[in-house]
Amino acid sequence: MERPHLHRGDEITVHLTDAAFEGKAVARHEGMVLFVERAVPGDTALVRVTAVKRSFAEATLTRVLTPSPLRVEPRCRHFGVCGGCRWQQVEYAAQLRFKQQHVVDALERIGGFTGVPVEPIVGSEHAYFYRGKMEYSFSRKQWLIEKPVSHDEGESPAVSAVYLGLHVPQRYDKVLEIDDCQLQSPTSNRILNATREFARQHNLTVHQPEEEEGYLRFLVIRESKRTGERMVNLVTYSNEPEIMRAYTRMLLAEVPDLTTVVNTINSSRAQIAFGQREEIYLGEGFIREEIGGLRFKVSASSFFQTNVPQAERLYQTAREFAELVPDDVVYDLYSGTGTIALYLADAVRRVVGVESVASAIRDAEKNAGENGITNCAFVEGDLKDRLTKNTEWMNDLPRPTVVVVDPPRSGMHPKVVDEVVGLDARRIVYVSCNPATQARDLKQLCAERYRLVKVRPVDMFPHTYHVENVAVLERKSN
Ligand SMILES: C[S@@+](CC[C@H](N)C(=O)[O-])C[C@H]1O[C@@H](n2cnc3c(N)ncnc32)[C@H](O)[C@@H]1O
Repeated sequence: MERPHLHRGDEITVHLTDAAFEGKAVARHEGMVLFVERAVPGDTALVRVTAVKRSFAEATLTRVLTPSPLRVEPRCRHFGVCGGCRWQQVEYAAQLRFKQQHVVDALERIGGFTGVPVEPIVGSEHAYFYRGKMEYSFSRKQWLIEKPVSHDEGESPAVSAVYLGLHVPQRYDKVLEIDDCQLQSPTSNRILNATREFARQHNLTVHQPEEEEGYLRFLVIRESKRTGERMVNLVTYSNEPEIMRAYTRMLLAEVPDLTTVVNTINSSRAQIAFGQREEIYLGEGFIREEIGGLRFKVSASSFFQTNVPQAERLYQTAREFAELVPDDVVYDLYSGTGTIALYLADAVRRVVGVESVASAIRDAEKNAGENGITNCAFVEGDLKDRLTKNTEWMNDLPRPTVVVVDPPRSGMHPKVVDEVVGLDARRIVYVSCNPATQARDLKQLCAERYRLVKVRPVDMFPHTYHVENVAVLERKSN
């Protein structure tokens, strides 16, 4: 095989033609495919080659020579450094086309399907300020845009240095200070900036994972666009009630309609925004969310969908694709906090959710109770065991007529796929946040007994390359 002519470090001019995985753009150069970070299909650009593999190369954008007609001015002033919104410089309609194509490509190339009806992607009602939750990190070190290295090279930072923002991609030791994020709301930005100011004025310290000192860890802001309730959760290393009381007073002066303030205390080494204790300084310690007429209590540690209107459209699609009848028994596998199960409950005889995280099961049961739903049950366990070995939970239940699966990005374990086929349901609805693993699993599901009927992508995360996809399979008649 002829060696590629490209080398690492080469700078070449290319024309970008398509969008590829992870938001990269594709170019062809002397028979080689190039994946280019931060370029936009339609650009002609100078790019620098960063890696050369057998059949493709990788490159980063050096300079745009002729901009793509799909380019728009990014709205966020942190764009390009913050890794949050890779596609803000691409018009939203084009983002949707790329996501749609990504689903088609995965089905064809990974799943081996042809001619599957891929319905038009459901775009997000709001392309900005769509998130219900933001998690910011405190750090003693700042990522500077002009000079992307700070204090740690040379003298060490003062212990009282407080920076608050988002991690830049692949850098977990430093944060990019954010003062105006376009993802949650202007009020959320006010809380962010007021918190940073408060921390500096009061000389609060930042906790570093390798030390047993320092106070601040994370700031988590949750808000429901539907009920208007809003939570601030300050995650700290230790319990300092005086500081929290002063912080709450300051927050209320700044944002009078704040409904709850929580202090999560995490004295462990794990750098996560969860903790061993939660102290409530204002309100009830949770906010109420609404999806499909159902109410959910979302506490500081609960998982909840971040783009609620789109989650509702995703669930509507799952419900429509399931073609439920009143006598149906539905298994909701990977059920999380039970939102899909509860959303389907009024249309069927019974729903059973299976989920591995105990706290999610407790939330699901609580949510069922709060909404007066009595035909749902939730089973805790890893599906690899719950469908193969520890199957006693199925004994008292009728066999499912419809199965809904909503696995994590890694998709389903092959053994679980086989067991799901063995359940012999009339329909399987597969909700996925990763079209590649979904296509792989669909191929296995359709090996013999099932036929892929149609799919519909749903955009939950504008300006990112992520896309959700709902697929429905039908059992072949014997
Ligand atoms: C994409 S979430 C789905 C959440 C839920 N359907 C919703 O819409 O909110 C995937 C869920 O699968 C759970 N999970 C991951 N691996 C699992 C396994 N092997 N067995 C059971 N549940 C698992 C995770 O804890 C998570 O709650």
